Amino acid sequence: MRELQKIDFLLRCGRSRGNAVHLIRLKKLQLNMPTLESLLREERVFYPSEELIEKSNIKEFMEKRSIKDEDELRKKALEDVEWFWSEMAKEVGIEWFEEAEKVLEWNPPYVKWFIGAKYNIVHDALDKQMKLRKNKVAYIWEGEDGEVKKITYGELYREVNRLANALIELGIKKGDRVAIYLPMIPELPISMLACAKIGAVHIDVFSGFSPIALRERINDAGAKVLITADGFYRRGSVVRLKEDADRALEGAPSVEKVIVAKRVEFDVLMQEERDYWWDEATKDQPKECDTKIMDANDMLFILYTSGTTGKPKGVMHAHGGYAVGTAATLKYVMDLKEDDIYWCTADIGWITGHSYLVYAPLILGATSVIYCGAPDYPKPDRWWEIIEKYGVTLFYTAPTAIRMFMRFGEEWVEKHDLSSLRLLGSVGEPINPKAWYWYYKYVGKERCPIMDTWWQTETGHFLITPLPTTPLKPSSATKPFPGIEADVFDDNGNSLYGKNEGGYLVIKKPWPGMLIGVWRDPERYFKTYWEKFRNVYLSGDAARVDADGYFWIQGRLDDVLSVAGHRLGNSEIESALVSHPAVSEAAVVGKPHEVKGEAVIAFVILRKGYYPSEKLKEELREHVSKEIGKIARPDEVYFVSDLPKTRSGKIMRRLIRAKLIREKIGDISTLMNPEALILVEQAIEGK
Ligand code: WTA
Repeated sequence: MRELQKIDFLLRCGRSRGNAVHLIRLKKLQLNMPTLESLLREERVFYPSEELIEKSNIKEFMEKRSIKDEDELRKKALEDVEWFWSEMAKEVGIEWFEEAEKVLEWNPPYVKWFIGAKYNIVHDALDKQMKLRKNKVAYIWEGEDGEVKKITYGELYREVNRLANALIELGIKKGDRVAIYLPMIPELPISMLACAKIGAVHIDVFSGFSPIALRERINDAGAKVLITADGFYRRGSVVRLKEDADRALEGAPSVEKVIVAKRVEFDVLMQEERDYWWDEATKDQPKECDTKIMDANDMLFILYTSGTTGKPKGVMHAHGGYAVGTAATLKYVMDLKEDDIYWCTADIGWITGHSYLVYAPLILGATSVIYCGAPDYPKPDRWWEIIEKYGVTLFYTAPTAIRMFMRFGEEWVEKHDLSSLRLLGSVGEPINPKAWYWYYKYVGKERCPIMDTWWQTETGHFLITPLPTTPLKPSSATKPFPGIEADVFDDNGNSLYGKNEGGYLVIKKPWPGMLIGVWRDPERYFKTYWEKFRNVYLSGDAARVDADGYFWIQGRLDDVLSVAGHRLGNSEIESALVSHPAVSEAAVVGKPHEVKGEAVIAFVILRKGYYPSEKLKEELREHVSKEIGKIARPDEVYFVSDLPKTRSGKIMRRLIRAKLIREKIGDISTLMNPEALILVEQAIEGK
């Protein structure tokens, strides 16, 4: 054991990096080191209102089947997952071209759902809606500059067909990959649906990614066509996207054709015979296009996500199961109904946007808001203004956004009438109690439950999440969705369910939206998710389950500190820090320490009205001691005005740690704000 600690220490001192450190850490867990400590407790329980429960979709579902409560529903669903998911498929109105012969085929590590069914997700998302909701608004789109477009299902259908026909004319066939590099403009969902309609595989690359990141993804996927835009507005200035796309294409020989949407209308360089303006490519195309009849298990898209190595993984999803899983969770968790105005603030370039801004809401025939711009532009109340303006009823966002708004102060929220809101959602990271209460109090006015939804790019849809009937414990994602068997394992695969001890979060049964593999890398698929606990899905997150069966997600396993033999989740210490009135955001990283193995180092952004001082530093260290225990007390606290984040808003602890221990920082293609890294460095150097 001591030997391993020594190796780990040397590795962290810079003798080796990244993956090796991660592997050694997992090794240590394998050797049965003390389990993860979970010292931060939250005791209060919040009950949803009677009215909300009575009118909820889930209540109706249970009543129809004489199921008395959600616990009985979970039990029944697990006893017969095939029954449960078939019921879900019916309830969300899935229309198969040909019915399945069998619901589930599980040949670990590969799963197939709705075997033998003929299907195309676009049939449910669009074609079907032509009969049901042709004139209903599918998307209310607002640009940062204030431009608004309302797009009906009928209009969306026609635009998708036109582009689908254009893609066919460019030679795109079933199974071909099309890369999409677009900002949050209507052309983005239109492009995804057009690809899916003709059986092509879309690969969205978030528009904030660099040319290098785009090129890497295009090359890995072997995309034949790229769809992009001239540019877009961000904080009032123009981002010249086409130039980035051109740079990416310098080293991406698989791309034969490029379609360019116009958003900003400035002069861009168009390469003859390769580049086509969207309008020209689509304007003379027919308004109808046959929807390709696919197998329910045919691939719908690849979405790249980061893993423990530098190279992103191409996570693959299929048409059938994914449609059922995403639509069912939106209907029963966010309680979506016909007249709701639903706003998911995620960028479509990430899984949350794919599942809950494109496919699920369209299958359910919802009206969704899409906002293309910075959340605090021109003023910090832009989002609240949008909620008021369109009467948003269901609002789904991320803790990082909530914390940012907390920093601006509640006066910006209070300027607006948010009484239309019925239900709130959270995703992306554990929502710390302080942010939870703020969200609950100032946005939801203590009326709206918060659905803290735990899931991943790989899972396709929510797996651990409250239902509108579930009593809420702030900061807990509560319980598994019916049909999902989640657990927490110790290193030997023993269940820690109900013991409130930290361990590996695992899923023991397949679910409909489960990834169907990693693009061209079956070995990585097996090793990442299925090797450690045979035939059980390893999420890569640490969690604990309390005596009531509530799940508390502690963050990624590779983001776990080892302090004097105690394992502490970085996010738990961060959560303790931000529960102090002076703190708006915090990042905690470990620094090699000769005695303790790792020392806790905190980087803190202060709220308005608080100023850095030695006294405050000491107060914060004391505060963490008090909240979690002496063991978590930060050795050092640095005050910074910004923290390095990914484009999706996650703090990049890896980069902070690299600066701290003077390691090479490695890949920064996902870093949104390089200047924050300089601030971190200056803080460390004491400048
Ligand atoms: C984290 C985003 C705590 C988790 C949908 C997971 C969460 C990773 C939550 C996946 C939540 C997501 N509570 N942690 N409610 N939701 N996470 O692939 O660490 O971008 O493994 O998918 O985000 O991130 P991804």
